[in-house]
Amino acid sequence: MRVGVVILAAGKGTRMKSDLPKVLHEVCGRTLLDWALSETALLASQSTVVVVGHQADTVTETCPDDVTAVVQEPQLGTGHAVQVGITALDPSVDTVVVLPGDMPLIRPSSLRTLVDSHASAGSAATIMSVNLDDPTGYGRIVRSDGSVSAIVEHRDANDEELSIREVNTSVYVFDRQQLVDALTRVTTDNDQGEYYLTDVVGILVEAGASVEAVSVPEDEGLGVNDHSQLATATAEIVARINHHWMVEGVSITDPARTIIEPSVALAPGSTIHPDTWLKGETSVASGAVVGPQVDAVDSSIGTGATVRYAVMHEATIGDRAIVGPYTYLRPGAVLEEGAKAGAFVEIKGSTVGKGSKVPHLSYIGDTDIGEKSNIGAATVTVNYDGFRKHRTKIGSRVRIGSDTMLIAPVEVGDDAATGAGSVITKDVPDGALGIARSDQRNIDGYAEKRRKRAEEETD
Ligand code: UD1
Ligand code: CA
Repeated sequence: MRVGVVILAAGKGTRMKSDLPKVLHEVCGRTLLDWALSETALLASQSTVVVVGHQADTVTETCPDDVTAVVQEPQLGTGHAVQVGITALDPSVDTVVVLPGDMPLIRPSSLRTLVDSHASAGSAATIMSVNLDDPTGYGRIVRSDGSVSAIVEHRDANDEELSIREVNTSVYVFDRQQLVDALTRVTTDNDQGEYYLTDVVGILVEAGASVEAVSVPEDEGLGVNDHSQLATATAEIVARINHHWMVEGVSITDPARTIIEPSVALAPGSTIHPDTWLKGETSVASGAVVGPQVDAVDSSIGTGATVRYAVMHEATIGDRAIVGPYTYLRPGAVLEEGAKAGAFVEIKGSTVGKGSKVPHLSYIGDTDIGEKSNIGAATVTVNYDGFRKHRTKIGSRVRIGSDTMLIAPVEVGDDAATGAGSVITKDVPDGALGIARSDQRNIDGYAEKRRKRAEEETD
């Protein structure tokens, strides 16, 4: 058996009321089309084709290199879509899996089971079905004496057929040759005047071939047609991912308020608190406590680190480092072991060395800080002269006084210090104090003088 996959994604998705093609809407960080592709992971597909139509170029651009996109224009129905798609499948493929691009909840294991039971029964077609309390809108699986005899679309069904609760998910496995032959006999004689893929079932059965339907849990049958169904699908995917990590030994204190994208890696013994959204290639090591309220993209959080109320993008948090509350870490922010980035601190393109601290109200950009240095409150590395960015270098065991402006490029040596309120424009040597502010002058008796002047003016 050589399996090929045809994904149907040419439709407009009218009910999304969106300029974005339906299959490019995201569920937990992945497009619907990517979910469809990932569902086929266990099939060892020899050849995968995506049938595109509406905004074909935009959808095609998102397809991985090993996937062939074929354009269906005009879109004359699901039968026509498969007819177009099948021509692009590798000639060696003998078994065709068809699935819509808008069903993100199908489990890879269910598709595998469908293909296996298709092969062991030697069927011409195997339909993935679900049993629904409310089957409104779906194609009904019609059986006679228990065997599948046809699929009838809701709008073409009679009263008896409308009472059937087993419905077509639009996911199928076909014998390639029998499918190709049957498709040539599909007509547009139906309520919508389209070529229905579902008609292939009746055609095959009439020709004496066997067709089976295998039912799957109801949640897998959800197709996304509008934003409400997109949210339902998202909630289910989020719940599945969180369940997976909790079973793996991750503590998620409020799973309903935690979103973890499928590409994220969490170590057993890590803890995730509510209102946290971990995205992209983010990783969290053992013993780390993340949240509440952390939004992290492509970031790594080390062993035993603590991160609260923070936004981070491409940041690296070392072991036992402390971040937050209210911290913004931008690309290239690196906190080494035991370092700290505290309240209202923004860091970009900078390394904060082992045990160094940026506790309050600072901007650190394009800066290298050595070990065990302390950056006083409200320090700014002035890295941009309006044309170019410049780097700042701060050594180890340095004490930067509060409200220091470090005008880059500038270096502060090991064991050096700056006076609070300094504007540092020149390098500070090792061990030196750099101070750059005007000397203080006190005017004695000032309050008394002011009072007298005010009295004279009102007289
Ligand atoms: C289809 C099935 C129905 C099933 C339901 C499950 C048919 C005739 N009916 O109905 O039995 O219960 O799915 O959700 O197949 N598409 C194309 N090209 C076209 C038409 C559609 O690529 O010319 C794609 C759509 O983008 C979509 C999929 O095929 O991904 C299904 O099409 P849709 O029009 O949504 O079919 P339904 O009416 O939902
Ligand atoms: Ca549909």
